[in-house]
Amino acid sequence: MNNRLKEDNTASGWFGREPERRVDVFDKLDPEKGVTRPTGSSANMKIRAYAVEKMKEAGLDVRVDAVGNIFGRKNGVQQNVGAVMCGSHLDSVVNGGQFDGALGVFSAIEAVRRLEDEGYKNTRPIEIVVFTGEEGSAFGMTLLGSTALIGKMSYEEAAARRDQEGRTLKEALEYMGYKGDFVMDLDTVAYFVELHIEQGPVLFNKKVPVGIVENIAGIAWIYATINGEGNHAGTTPMKMRRDALTAAADIIKFVEKRANEMVDRLGSATVGTVGKLNVYPNGTNIIPGRVELGIDIRDVVSENMESLKQEVSAALKDLERKYGVSVDISLQPTHFPEPLAHEVIDVIEQSAGEVNIRSMRMNSGAGHDSQNIAKKVKTGMIFVPSVGGISHAPMEWTEWDDVENGVQVLTRTIKRLTQIREDGASMTLR
Ligand code: GLV
Ligand code: MN
Ligand code: MN
Repeated sequence: MNNRLKEDNTASGWFGREPERRVDVFDKLDPEKGVTRPTGSSANMKIRAYAVEKMKEAGLDVRVDAVGNIFGRKNGVQQNVGAVMCGSHLDSVVNGGQFDGALGVFSAIEAVRRLEDEGYKNTRPIEIVVFTGEEGSAFGMTLLGSTALIGKMSYEEAAARRDQEGRTLKEALEYMGYKGDFVMDLDTVAYFVELHIEQGPVLFNKKVPVGIVENIAGIAWIYATINGEGNHAGTTPMKMRRDALTAAADIIKFVEKRANEMVDRLGSATVGTVGKLNVYPNGTNIIPGRVELGIDIRDVVSENMESLKQEVSAALKDLERKYGVSVDISLQPTHFPEPLAHEVIDVIEQSAGEVNIRSMRMNSGAGHDSQNIAKKVKTGMIFVPSVGGISHAPMEWTEWDDVENGVQVLTRTIKRLTQIREDGASMTLR
């Protein structure tokens, strides 16, 4: 494959790894040590700087908006037609992999470089985008930058959100040097396409190199704090306890059991996870007085996601009666399931065929900024296989041949989309 893209994905995988080091083959992965690049961290700042440098080298005009979303524009032969936007995110989960998000950003830059190298004149402008805070690992909700970009949350509200240290997003962006004032008007964007690793086992198991996403699952996050009474583990009789962790254990089992029951009863793709747990004060000889939980509920069918969310909220409240604790519930903004645009799906499928790469249609269980952008702009997603279906973990990997397949399909797709006329007709491609 083209070394530039491999180099970008390897060099950027250096940032947020402890200790910082290059990983360019699967065998160099360390199951304990992935990448950690939450928004506002120095690792996030470094990978942003790396990407911006590459964008500028590719001749793009770089601008930053009020929530730190980065845009890189390549003008088209025509200026007053909707742009083709393409990109992903550079933040990561805690101890995640180097391809989640970053692959989509560097592949978009590579696609522009390849079009430039072949002297291709894009009719529509191309906008590369890096979304802020896709993972929610710092500011408490996923898809933060794109949620502000589509106007579902105001820029001010997004910038005022606080991370675990109490720092606002605005302060975090100022620290990194990415608090801008550019305003991207999505009415000037005709199409959006995001290349991403699948993060699940389907393509890898089926040995199909490219997936084309039809629907993206919705995500509902519930934060709950269970307040019991911290007390001595040796002296407090069993009948006199208000153990917050015992109550939390009840809800953890409830989420798993109900999601499983929905799958069995409805044949649905429902998933429910308690992925975050903080126990206070966290001492072996102390009855836990307070527990914080982060609960993640998803489905491609809105009603299923909503019904599990309601049930879990009710079960959380019921802990008060059962365990004598008090429970505070904070529902984060829900991202609803989103179908992607048939027009873009068709173009991706056609493009994959034209570069002789096999593809299949599928759904995405992972969340993506695409599901926000799809509310305003015709959007499509290209998936490439994740080895063993592993992601959000240090062993996340995608083979370089698959990266190359993905970028070929992406480049061809961008080429096609930039040639679609305002009346929807397609021009002949070389
Ligand atoms: C984002 O990667 C998510 O699916 O949580
Ligand atoms: Mn991602
Ligand atoms: Mn992710």
